[in-house]
Amino acid sequence: MAKKEILVTGGLGYIGSHTVVELIKNDYVPVIVDNLCNSKTEVLNRIETITGVRPEFIELDVRDEAALDKVFKAHHIFAVIHFAGLKSVGESVQKPDLYYDNNIGSSNVLLKVMKDNGVKNIVFSSSATVYGEPKRVPLYESDPIGETTNPYAETKVRIEYILKDLAKEDPSMNIAILRYFNPIGAHPSGLMGEDPRGIPNNLMPYVTQVAVGKLPQLQVFGNDYPTPDGTCIRDYIHVVDLAIGHVKTLIKLEEKPGLVIYNLGTGVGTSVLELINAFQKANNIKINYRIVGRRPGDVPENYANCDKALKEIGFKAQYNIVDCCRDSWNWQKKNPQGYND
Ligand code: NAD
Ligand code: UD1
Repeated sequence: MAKKEILVTGGLGYIGSHTVVELIKNDYVPVIVDNLCNSKTEVLNRIETITGVRPEFIELDVRDEAALDKVFKAHHIFAVIHFAGLKSVGESVQKPDLYYDNNIGSSNVLLKVMKDNGVKNIVFSSSATVYGEPKRVPLYESDPIGETTNPYAETKVRIEYILKDLAKEDPSMNIAILRYFNPIGAHPSGLMGEDPRGIPNNLMPYVTQVAVGKLPQLQVFGNDYPTPDGTCIRDYIHVVDLAIGHVKTLIKLEEKPGLVIYNLGTGVGTSVLELINAFQKANNIKINYRIVGRRPGDVPENYANCDKALKEIGFKAQYNIVDCCRDSWNWQKKNPQGYND
């Protein structure tokens, strides 16, 4: 049987690149489209080194309908995994128009081109951020969404609504909404990882940049939360586990399930101080940090119930927090300037 072609939008980004590796390992043929607004073509060399396969890459903006249509016409696409999007919460507050246009606009164009070309299967990158401030943890897929606090989160909620409406309009569509919790870690080879622009907003890249000496000190945002050590609790998931989750989801789509929604996390909550300690222990490095005030908008505790993904797609995270810390550091120390090296 011919191998299935999977269109991967944003496939040169952090989660997309790791997913492309898992797709190749599982005998799919990824076709990557990306506008390089937050990634570099060096990623293609790394994918080739890891897998022995150089995937096809077309530089385009997903909002460019004509260019995207050409890609669909030139291939026999079985499914789309839609990673392309902007993801900085702070930037989205400064430039909401950009986020609505890029994230929702690209999704609308993609769905139109899929329809025009009769492609019925899509996996969408959503986020735990759609749950807003949780009333209780763990979070279940059936919990309410929509009380968001920033335009980035709002784009994810609105795209979820668009997909849910589409599922009602066209029951032949197979749509998987994946709500990622906090992806960290890197490919165990140290060849691929997260390469944020400028000063990182997220905890793990900040920790690794302090460890490598690029940044002087980590600030821990608040130790007066109602949690055991006073710092916020999150569900950190290794990016390779997340990537494997996409392959399992594609297998599910072959059963033609209609609309499915899964949390992709570990089900385990880890506090900021626990993560720092795990990093120090795993890598035998001291992290210079100090406690400062809370960061506006942070919720005390956020972690997933992952029973549904286990039951329906056989997904269970294999890497623990120590593995994540080891692999994040392995990537950072081998690539102190990210993909610029
Ligand atoms: P990333 O920025 O590393 O990857 C996104 C990729 O999409 C980049 O390569 C970028 O160049 C590309 N892109 C953006 N807009 C585009 C457009 N209009 N046309 C073509 N390409 C475009 O981000 P990531 O961490 O890999 O995240 C992937 C997806 O997962 C995003 O949709 C993000 O919102 C979502 N997500 C990420 C996290 C996280 O913490 N990393 C958590 C939850 C959800
Ligand atoms: C952030 C995004 C969220 C996105 C998620 C996934 C915000 C407000 N939310 O979530 O939309 O889906 O990433 O990647 O940006 N921390 C520090 N010091 C730092 C950085 C972070 O103490 O320098 C703390 C934060 O207060 C938080 C925890 O570390 O308690 C995790 O922060 P972060 O990595 O930014 O992720 P989230 O805020 O959970």
